[in-house]
Amino acid sequence: MSSQSGPRRSININTFKKMKEAGEKFASLTAYDYCTAFAVSSEGVEIILVGDSLGMVIQGHDSSLPVTVEDVAYHMRCVKSGNQGAFLMADLPFMSYYSELNTLENSACLMREGAQMVKLEGGAWLADSTRLLVQHGIPVCAHMGLTPQSVNHLGGYRVQGRDPQKAKTMIEEARVLEDAGASILLLECVPTALGQKITESLEIPVIGIGAGPHTDGQIMVLQDMLGLYPGKPAKFVHNFLAGDTGGVQGAIRAYISAVKSGAFPAPEHCYS
Ligand code: KIV
Repeated sequence: MSSQSGPRRSININTFKKMKEAGEKFASLTAYDYCTAFAVSSEGVEIILVGDSLGMVIQGHDSSLPVTVEDVAYHMRCVKSGNQGAFLMADLPFMSYYSELNTLENSACLMREGAQMVKLEGGAWLADSTRLLVQHGIPVCAHMGLTPQSVNHLGGYRVQGRDPQKAKTMIEEARVLEDAGASILLLECVPTALGQKITESLEIPVIGIGAGPHTDGQIMVLQDMLGLYPGKPAKFVHNFLAGDTGGVQGAIRAYISAVKSGAFPAPEHCYS
């Protein structure tokens, strides 16, 4: 094994808004360890998410609910060591933001480990927490649409916002979170038209996963993108390793280039 040093870039919170304004798509992936963080960042992803999907793809649970702040902190530490200049986002896991105190303490813990932004799942009810975090210098990514921490309440991993009234509410709630100071919105598993409407309604950048091709950026779980996660993949997943001859690095490159050119997601990855 040889230790290499890849290109160091300076990506910060302002980069994504500038990219949105310039109509330039950005590519994000999850990573949970030194080697994958090194690989995805040196290939050029703009954002690495240390997400609570680690509960499924690293720990083998059937949901993200068992993941703790300590788990995310541990993986953030590993990722920080390998990161070559990507912006680092950390998930606040299930029940780690139910009070002002635990929201601030848990976010501070993740920021100390290297996170540059925290992500919270939910709608307008998170406006106060968002304001509080921003007041304390912690950038926020709001996560709306399918929010996997609420899988038991939602009755499964289902497309959200198909009903016109619910779609309208989602647009309004996204604006509330933007007004509260969220810097990015992550939108999961919504119809393409709603993904487009929300992206166009907000000044802040929107990252999509199963939200169609019109969002400002895309994100995928690395293990999904490499076809490693067992079982039937979600509709929005594409295996970039299959058919590519460049191995893992080649698959990461293919993903980034498909996101940037707008070739991914294709119609077969989207919900109508
Ligand atoms: O935890 C995670 O991987 C996520 C995905 C939706 C990107 O939040």
